[in-house]
Amino acid sequence: MKNLLILGAKSDIAKAIALEYAGHGYHLILAGREIEELNTFAEELRLKYLISVELKHFDALDFISNNSFVANLTTKPNGVICCVGYLGSQELAENNTEELLNILNTNFIGCVTILSHLANYFEEAKEGFIIGISSVAGERGRKSNYFYGSAKAGFTQFLSGLRARLHSNNIHVLTVKPGFVYTKMTSHLDLPKSLSISPDVLAKKVFKAHKNKKNNVYIKWVWKYIMCIIRLIPEFIFKKLNL
Ligand SMILES: NC(=O)c1ccc[n+]([C@@H]2O[C@H](COP(=O)([O-])OP(=O)(O)OC[C@H]3O[C@@H](n4cnc5c(N)ncnc54)[C@H](OP(=O)(O)O)[C@@H]3O)[C@@H](O)[C@H]2O)c1
Repeated sequence: MKNLLILGAKSDIAKAIALEYAGHGYHLILAGREIEELNTFAEELRLKYLISVELKHFDALDFISNNSFVANLTTKPNGVICCVGYLGSQELAENNTEELLNILNTNFIGCVTILSHLANYFEEAKEGFIIGISSVAGERGRKSNYFYGSAKAGFTQFLSGLRARLHSNNIHVLTVKPGFVYTKMTSHLDLPKSLSISPDVLAKKVFKAHKNKKNNVYIKWVWKYIMCIIRLIPEFIFKKLNL
């Protein structure tokens, strides 16, 4: 029996991932804030796929109690997918410490804390997988979103180190780097069609990358090349660009 824990389960990407993994026979533990809002969704999954779906309260910013969150899980997960994230406002965060901390703590400290506890749990169990939804924004700091970008950069580096640590225990760590995805997070933005995808396309690619034991995956291939070019631009030119 395969049990998947999804953190930040109310996210549009998380829901698409839940549907994809349910379709492949995974039982689900959906964790998030105000998780009771997913009651109907959970019931639909149970009826359609004949799987068990548990709902658990989880707040990534409760750093200290995240250890007991793992210890108190009644159904033990075989893997976790972390979909927690907060785009926030770059402009606001430049003058507002609360917004700044929310962006950094949600995308970096919160995700790192809970996944560190789960890493220890999987290491002891000698099986498991960890999938983190990071972002192409973490590949280079841009003036338009360097708070979010730097937190995602930290998260990507954390997953890289964790992968190296857990490799010898046969625990697979996958870093997902989406570009633009049509979700609540981006609903206020005018996304370029050719660079954007829907959450269900992303979910299928995550499942495939997981099954193929990939280390890193860019969800739309074009982003791999875009980010390669962006990384190569010399700093003296990069700082003048309106990116
Ligand atoms: N959409 C994109 O273009 C895009 C691109 C690259 C990467 N990503 C990443 O993909 C992931 C999913 O994002 P999304 O696009 O599906 O956006 P979303 O629907 O806004 O999902 C973000 C999720 O994070 C949860 N969250 C925020 N703070 C939390 C906390 N303290 N504790 C627990 N959960 C918390 C939110 O919970 P609530 O529902 O309770 O608010 C929400 O469910 C994020 O990591 C995001 O950074 C998205």
